Amino acid sequence: MPKESHKPLRGKTVLVTGAARRLGRASALALAQAGADVAITFLNSAREAQHTVIDLSSVGVRAVALRCDVTDEKSVKSTVKEAVRELGGLDILVNNAANYETVEFEKITLQQWDAIFTSNTRGPFLVSREALKFLRKGRGKIINMGSLGGLQAWATHAHYCSSKAALHMLTKVMAKALAPEIAVNCVAPGMIDLGEKAAAGFMKRMAKETPMRRNGRAEEVAAAVLFFATAPHFITGQMLAVAGGLEL
Ligand SMILES: NC(=O)c1ccc[n+]([C@@H]2O[C@H](COP(=O)([O-])OP(=O)(O)OC[C@H]3O[C@@H](n4cnc5c(N)ncnc54)[C@H](OP(=O)(O)O)[C@@H]3O)[C@@H](O)[C@H]2O)c1
Repeated sequence: MPKESHKPLRGKTVLVTGAARRLGRASALALAQAGADVAITFLNSAREAQHTVIDLSSVGVRAVALRCDVTDEKSVKSTVKEAVRELGGLDILVNNAANYETVEFEKITLQQWDAIFTSNTRGPFLVSREALKFLRKGRGKIINMGSLGGLQAWATHAHYCSSKAALHMLTKVMAKALAPEIAVNCVAPGMIDLGEKAAAGFMKRMAKETPMRRNGRAEEVAAAVLFFATAPHFITGQMLAVAGGLEL
């Protein structure tokens, strides 16, 4: 067992949205390994969520999975309430749930545009708004998952890039609006290799273009989330790119 000094989040409670798998799961695991009790949410990945809960519990923390649609106000309200009830409070919120889609600019439908904004921008707003009263009881923290796509213009991702750029600005607005009780920061992952075969060619090309000459790993994104989760409360409104210098 790691020593107490390795458990800076012992006694803290965390809610991570969309954390049944991939980067959300990696962040939830890193927070749990640091000692936090963790509630994760899932939408469709119920089975993966149960596996993640088992893995979270195995590091000796309290863990629970709740179904939540971040586009639905009722669902968000009841999930936040339930997470607080299960964990006994809420210290840190990680707005991780999102959607990603590749569509040529002239082919983006109104429905696609709205759906991406509803999950990627309105979702974090809604979950944050519902979590406020609980986060304000302590020195709460909100960590938004932005994107390199919110910093750079990707021609075939107008809706995704715009939704993440909006989330970056929302991070700064919330940091100002919610100070001094709550610190709000944002992690912006770049090209993260999750081992998907279909993306192998693209990943190889991107590694060549990246100053660090490789793509990122899920654990490196989780390390950035953990940084903000354990950082001084004085650090707020900040954006941390995890992109190997590709943003420069
Ligand atoms: N992967 C990357 O390389 C990368 C790069 C830049 C930024 N990011 C950002 O980092 C975060 C995590 O990335 P990821 O690739 O792991 O994300 P992802 O797999 O695309 O999505 C994460 C989870 O979001 C959940 N979700 C989608 N719509 C939802 C809704 N309406 N309500 C509730 N949950 C919903 C899904 O849950 P279910 O599976 O349960 O349906 C999904 O598992 C995202 O914010 C993403 O935009 C990722």
